[in-house]
Amino acid sequence: MATERQGGKKVADASKIAPATGKLGVMVVGLGAVATTFIAGVEAVRRGLAKPIGSLTQMGTIRLGKRTDNRSPLVREFVPLANLEDLVFTGWDIFDDNVYESAVHAKVLAKETLDQLKPFLESIQPLPAVFDQHYVKRLHGTHVKRGKTKRDLANQVVADIRAFKKTVDRVVMIWCGSTEIFIEPGAVHQSIEAFEKGLDKNDIGIAPSQIYAYAALSEGVPFANGAPNLTVDVPAMVELSRRNAAPICGKDFKTGQTFMKTVLAPAFKARLLGVSGWYSTNILGNRDGEVLDDPESFKTKEESKLGVLDYILQPQLYPDLYKEIYHKVRINYYPPRGDNKEGWDNIDIFGWLGYPMQIKVDFLCRDSILAAPIALDLVLFLDLAKRTPELRSKGIQEWLSFYLKSPQTAPGLYPEHDLFIQSMKLKNTLRHIMGEGLITHLGLEYYD
Ligand SMILES: NC(=O)c1ccc[n+]([C@@H]2O[C@H](COP(=O)([O-])OP(=O)(O)OC[C@H]3O[C@@H](n4cnc5c(N)ncnc54)[C@H](O)[C@@H]3O)[C@@H](O)[C@H]2O)c1
Repeated sequence: MATERQGGKKVADASKIAPATGKLGVMVVGLGAVATTFIAGVEAVRRGLAKPIGSLTQMGTIRLGKRTDNRSPLVREFVPLANLEDLVFTGWDIFDDNVYESAVHAKVLAKETLDQLKPFLESIQPLPAVFDQHYVKRLHGTHVKRGKTKRDLANQVVADIRAFKKTVDRVVMIWCGSTEIFIEPGAVHQSIEAFEKGLDKNDIGIAPSQIYAYAALSEGVPFANGAPNLTVDVPAMVELSRRNAAPICGKDFKTGQTFMKTVLAPAFKARLLGVSGWYSTNILGNRDGEVLDDPESFKTKEESKLGVLDYILQPQLYPDLYKEIYHKVRINYYPPRGDNKEGWDNIDIFGWLGYPMQIKVDFLCRDSILAAPIALDLVLFLDLAKRTPELRSKGIQEWLSFYLKSPQTAPGLYPEHDLFIQSMKLKNTLRHIMGEGLITHLGLEYYD
């Protein structure tokens, strides 16, 4: 344990965190809209062409000590994070377009911006993917690995990881691939042994995302999941993560509508305002929208989006306010919008003596612009977790819930969805590992 006793208090020993020296290899599964916006964005920032807006690791500060101490360093100066200059990218996709071609196709960033970065983006060619159309009905992959069993495929991903490891100092893997069909955890997911037998027997319960995750965790590589896929949210993967000190966290980037939900719902609860209905609908026209047009992939996304309100509003504690809530989420594929999603929310609330009111939110957002900084922060923080003895041995990094629609927690523990609790948890974790005092916001000492 990286902790010592100081004046009766446990304080972490920051010197035990390994430095972020050398190159950090980032292996991205799925080089589509989010991934290419992330990679091109990092390169644009490195060249001084743009600012990393939306990234806590790059632009955020963290208060240390008392409010009167005036100590608020940048997060990246406070904790030892990899520098953007040291990130090296590779990845897999079921299409063989390089990152430049894929970014042009995604139509998120302006062609002029991409052209300035062209040689760099063209140099990232996807490796052949592990893919099976059973799990993503709307895609037809051509650039795919062949193997008799899922074990063969996992071994091929391990070989990719090992080859990449020879060129960099540390590696993190992040899933930016498509949303797979909804899969319930089954017997094959309950232990490493059952999972490995399943790989040999081509068990249908093992989706491609789990083959990548298994390969990563087996190699001690941290794994982040940008999609709502089951992937590492099963006992076998948690066990593997802990065994190999390969950190994992929840799933599904919290970007647009759910981000707004996890800001607004805590406000209603804090003021004890009731909610009778919350209708959320989206139109989007990118490839993600096309994949989500398939009911089986939509179900996976729907489960992830629906979970948040129940946990935040706690209807079991506040039956008069939230027991009758009608929560509906719709996603509609509408090609003209491309990546520029529009998310509407109609919220029926009620106040004093039960009088009804309505709130309408119309978020004209850009999906990948919101997701890219999250991908960056998750990669950098998972790498930090891997270098921090106290964190890496824990497997699940609950402090990264801030970024995810479906945070992952220890068995039996309900997830925290409230964005501000998540933000406090994240920053207190950073203070803790660096041996700084936690901030409780009590503040009585200012009035002594
Ligand atoms: N953009 C957001 O705001 C946001 C928010 C939350 C979650 N997500 C999720 O992030 C993921 C990526 O979103 P996107 O907009 O970039 O989608 P996209 O369709 O543009 O990109 C996904 C890429 O993954 C590839 N792919 C699919 N299966 C693969 C496999 N088995 N191996 C390798 N590559 C594979 C596809 O070919 C495609 O290039 C989606 O699952 C989406 O639901 C996005």
